[in-house]
Amino acid sequence: MRKIVVFTGAGMSAESGIKTFRDSDGLWENHPVEDVATPQAWARNPRLVLDFYNARRKQMREVEPNKGHAALVELEKCFNVQIITQNVDNLHERAGSSSVLHLHGELDKVRSTRNPKLIFTPEHWEIKLGDVGEDGAQLRPHIVWFGEQVPMFDVAIDITQTADIMIVVGTSLVVYPAASLIEYVPANAPIFLIDPKAEPQSRRNIEIIRGTAAEELPEFVKKLISNEITSKNA
Ligand code: OAD
Repeated sequence: MRKIVVFTGAGMSAESGIKTFRDSDGLWENHPVEDVATPQAWARNPRLVLDFYNARRKQMREVEPNKGHAALVELEKCFNVQIITQNVDNLHERAGSSSVLHLHGELDKVRSTRNPKLIFTPEHWEIKLGDVGEDGAQLRPHIVWFGEQVPMFDVAIDITQTADIMIVVGTSLVVYPAASLIEYVPANAPIFLIDPKAEPQSRRNIEIIRGTAAEELPEFVKKLISNEITSKNA
């Protein structure tokens, strides 16, 4: 079975009702990154950081996967599909995708501030100051903040290097190291980018499909399944 690696960003979940980060009225416009998504923010004002992620976690449980997520599940009928996502939501999993790697962490999980390996999924969406893990240490979101290592990046490189086709969906490709993944796609494997504001990338020859995930992915997946798109499209 040919391997399709799908690399997704915030635009993938936009039509489910989750805001992207950098579009106008995006999350970072109303919540500056340095206030809510850095180790320094956590040291300065952990309550604000917890509240920001509590709101995201609560909302995630209220929204549903969209037609784009569903199309990627359909794709598994004919291809070995491996999703690498920058998203911290669980919409790919809830749609039914079987292989999802989260580069920037998972909103549904929290971990001990003392032992990063002590990770679990809380029942309630709200984590408060004073909530502790088994080791008695304060819990924090299981999220990769700016300035922190991206532990899954090497695994993502390994997956990407074995792609026959790469589909990139809904990402501004400005956050590193995640954005550099496309450079690890084998030279003979075509790359497609689905995004309403996609810009040509100088780094690689990428075929751009300007449109949204929920509108374009179902059509694109149909073409892949009916073999209208092959590796020769590169
Ligand atoms: P951005 O907010 O930077 O980019 C979202 C992209 O989605 C843009 O290119 C939009 O044009 C596109 N878009 C918007 N609506 C769309 C739709 N319906 N369908 C398809 N595309 C759509 O989000 P990311 O690139 O995911 O990291 O951001 C990367 C990382 O920066 C995030 O993982 C997050 C953020 O800071 C952390 O929090 C560590």
